[in-house]
Amino acid sequence: MLNMPSSDDLLAWYDCHAREMPWRIPPQGRKVRRKPDPYRIWLSEIMLQQTTVAAVKAYFKRFTARWPNVRALAEAEDVDVMGEWAGLGYYARARNLLKCARMVTKEMDAVFPSCYEDLILLPGIGPYTASAIAAIAFDKPATVVDGNVERVMSRLFDIHTPLPLSKNELMQRAHTLTPRTRAGDYAQAVMDLGATICTPKRPACGLCPWSDNCVSHKLGTASVLPKKVPKKRKPTRYGFVYFVQREDQAMLLERRPDKGLLGGMLGWPGSDWSNAPEENAPVQAEWQRVKPQVRHTFTHFHLHLSIMTASVGLGCIPQRGEFIARSKFRPSELPTVMRKVFDLVKST
Ligand code: ADE
Repeated sequence: MLNMPSSDDLLAWYDCHAREMPWRIPPQGRKVRRKPDPYRIWLSEIMLQQTTVAAVKAYFKRFTARWPNVRALAEAEDVDVMGEWAGLGYYARARNLLKCARMVTKEMDAVFPSCYEDLILLPGIGPYTASAIAAIAFDKPATVVDGNVERVMSRLFDIHTPLPLSKNELMQRAHTLTPRTRAGDYAQAVMDLGATICTPKRPACGLCPWSDNCVSHKLGTASVLPKKVPKKRKPTRYGFVYFVQREDQAMLLERRPDKGLLGGMLGWPGSDWSNAPEENAPVQAEWQRVKPQVRHTFTHFHLHLSIMTASVGLGCIPQRGEFIARSKFRPSELPTVMRKVFDLVKST
């Protein structure tokens, strides 16, 4: 029988190997009682849902430079926040971010609640995020389990039940290891261990502070864990987008409705999976079809987009969308799939 992994061993490792992150107070800072800013922890955790640390860092820095606290964010225009979020994906997160900022500002005098039960009532905050904020921002002994932590637990305890069936068991195992003190450092330490040592492929067990306590290391099964139920194959959908440029270089753009795919984001007017490109066109024009298609993968499907282009005169009145002057148009405010369309049209 192996000894149970100890949080002290992991914390001692974290004291030397914590990753630097723009929202994080490093362990040396926590020891001299520097406190994390709950606004920055909340924002980072929302951005980190489904997105890597590497991708989030630059967005986080831009957001916090523009909106340094929750009150400033609550007062922002929706379109500005959606524009800054463009490229991060999962746009419902940005809409909930604003709802949450406004609720905290209006109803809580811009002070984030500190306990799981109150955090989870806020828009966009689910069980994982409520635990992460309670632990990291407020040092509450909440158990924080993301994909990294699931991998660490499945190996420590040699759990072969495939994910997602094993989720409850992994959560319980993680719970038994969570300490009552330094809970914020501990939560971040397990995530860092998963991200840098207990990696999906070729884990660096020789460097792991828990290798003596790890059942799968002892049995040689670490590299096959965690097991996963095979994913369903994603279907492919087909659609059209219309790229209309006016004589003065203005471009026709349309903001999508708040609900649904790319909700609230700016983009080229599209057809909803239609096969008849002229029928759904936003203006009457002579259409040209761009030869290559744009391909993009969403959570539940692959999308192949055909692009129709047209040039129109100054008097053109579109059936939908709005012409935006070239000087006001920022490609960085487009979601990635729409940005791909723009890049392709420009390159042809
Ligand atoms: N992934 C999500 N939140 C994280 C955090 N606070 N530290 C490291 N990785 C994370």
